Amino acid sequence: TALAAALDALPKVELHCHVEGTMRPATVVELATRAGIPLPTTDVTELYSYRSLDEFLSVFWLVQSTLTGRDDWARLGYESVLDAAAHGRVYAELFFTPARHLTAGSRLRDIVAGLDEGFAAAEAETGSTAMLIADIDRAFGPSAGVAMVDELGDLRRGGATGMQRVLGVGMDSTELGIDPASFRDAYRLAARHGFRLTGHQGENSPPSAIATLVDVLGAERVDHGLSLVADPALVARFAAERIPLTVCPNSNIRIANAFGSLAEHPFPAMRSAGLLATLNTDDPALTDLDLGYEYASAADTFGYSFDDMVTIALDGITASWLPADDARALR
Ligand code: ADE
Ligand code: ZN
Repeated sequence: TALAAALDALPKVELHCHVEGTMRPATVVELATRAGIPLPTTDVTELYSYRSLDEFLSVFWLVQSTLTGRDDWARLGYESVLDAAAHGRVYAELFFTPARHLTAGSRLRDIVAGLDEGFAAAEAETGSTAMLIADIDRAFGPSAGVAMVDELGDLRRGGATGMQRVLGVGMDSTELGIDPASFRDAYRLAARHGFRLTGHQGENSPPSAIATLVDVLGAERVDHGLSLVADPALVARFAAERIPLTVCPNSNIRIANAFGSLAEHPFPAMRSAGLLATLNTDDPALTDLDLGYEYASAADTFGYSFDDMVTIALDGITASWLPADDARALR
């Protein structure tokens, strides 16, 4: 439709997107073949199949395992920004989750330098920029989180290549049975090193876990925050304080199986409650999404006008960690 085309072209920012979740299936197959990593299938249409969040995370980890060196990260970073720019994304704060690679012996400085190199090349071609958020992988436990943040601090102090892109620290992966407060040391250290703070919560955990993320860990934003709607008092507080939520409606349908259809998603309820709820894709390649579709499907399903969608896009800028001058330039 004309509205869908206009929303695809609308300049947009994205605050919840995992760089590994943007990896083209053909690139996964190529890197796996080169590195001798066995895949369950080399059929690019079959590679990304799963029936639950935990099955999805297994596919995500398989994709991650094909990134074995700096050049692989550079290629991923390049293709990732190119693919998003084709759907109107002009600025992003992208997650990377290096726990698995660090355990396997990769160096954090090589991952950051590789992504920086790929981003810079794609930026030169498209004008679309990307910054980074280093995510703690909850599955690896609190001490691995502290170790990653400690190393990030060292790299930043040492002026390592690409570290100017790493704006913040977050946390992702499984939520089940994990108290976010157990990551307090990593978050405190990240704040001391001057990193901005966010975290995945409420995709698969109750509103109390979202409150812990903000009140105990000091997160400034909440990634997903889906379960917040079950606690009206907390919704009112988050609305009053304008605490941003980076919501990923189509991901919640396709990955978390949280709803049967987009029409059942609480995104419009979140918006009308006054929450600063932004629109994002999460893992666009693994879910066959793009940011243009995310906007177009929201407009179509929730009955939003083009102007409504512009307001949502502007809220993305407000929720971003862009310096005030850069944010103003994007508006
Ligand atoms: N890592 C990548 N996508 C994720 C998601 N939807 N939830 C938790 N961890 C993730
Ligand atoms: Zn996510």
